Amino acid sequence: MAKIAAVSNQKGGVGKTTVTINLGKNLASMGKRVLLIDNDPQGNLTMAIFGDELPSEVVEWDGAGASSPGGSNGYNLYLEGVGVEPVAASDNLHVIGASKHLSEISTKPFEVIFDFKEKIDALRQRYDYILIDCLPSFGTLQTAAHMTADYLVIPTHLDDFSVAGIDEQMKTANNTKRRLNPGLSLLGILVNEVSSQRVLVEEHFYDRLANQYGDYLFKTKITKSAKVKESHAMRKSISEYKQNSDQARQYMEFTKEFIDRIEVGNEQ
Ligand SMILES: Nc1ncnc2c1ncn2[C@@H]1O[C@H](COP(=O)(O)OP(=O)(O)OP(=O)(O)O)[C@@H](O)[C@H]1O
Ligand SMILES: [Mg+2]
Repeated sequence: MAKIAAVSNQKGGVGKTTVTINLGKNLASMGKRVLLIDNDPQGNLTMAIFGDELPSEVVEWDGAGASSPGGSNGYNLYLEGVGVEPVAASDNLHVIGASKHLSEISTKPFEVIFDFKEKIDALRQRYDYILIDCLPSFGTLQTAAHMTADYLVIPTHLDDFSVAGIDEQMKTANNTKRRLNPGLSLLGILVNEVSSQRVLVEEHFYDRLANQYGDYLFKTKITKSAKVKESHAMRKSISEYKQNSDQARQYMEFTKEFIDRIEVGNEQ
């Protein structure tokens, strides 16, 4: 039965999509069965996996000549009575994609989040891990992900706005936990895009996070490198693109920490 992690932070550009892809591909390379869900109308994860040749399942519905309502398979997760089949990106890495059409979900009645949860729960038995790439804002799409997930992984930068954003994210997630999903827990906070050299302001914010969140901080930090951006452009994980880079090693360490935390949690 899959464990579900939402990679979430309402702050934009902190690395949610990059973390989802690299974690997902690393887990798949270890033989785990992985499903990635793009729950962001920007469709960045979908684009990063499939490039310009988007499979028909993730292309938005334009209404012309279509026999049934619906759009990308990510959009269909929110539609009652419409089946959703993930697309195989490789043998054990499957994807439910998204396009800008997904933003319409925010205008629909709140109950659509229950359709989302039901459909993802039905997919649990086919995978070891399901990772949901969240959008950078609060609202229906984020609540659906938090209501469905077992764990939250929060990527962050080490700056003032990002660190303040984590408190906001925890407040919202705790509301969802209290009202809709008592099983939700914080798996950890992942510090991303840190400088390789000592930078005082980063140390200041790291200490602040460490004081407030203690062991919830993943021990691994991901350092900043243009190679990460290049790997996106090449539609690859950093390990596929530059296996010997610091970031490939760090993402592998992070993947091991991710698995360990979940497995230890299961033993309790
Ligand atoms: N370690 C890193 N070093 C350098 N660049 C990075 C690193 N991690 C991510 N990036 C780059 O930062 C940008 C934002 O990353 P990403 O799209 O993953 O963030 P996001 O949180 O998903 O953004 P959004 O909030 O828009 O969904 C991308 O261009 C990505 O390539
Ligand atoms: Mg993103």
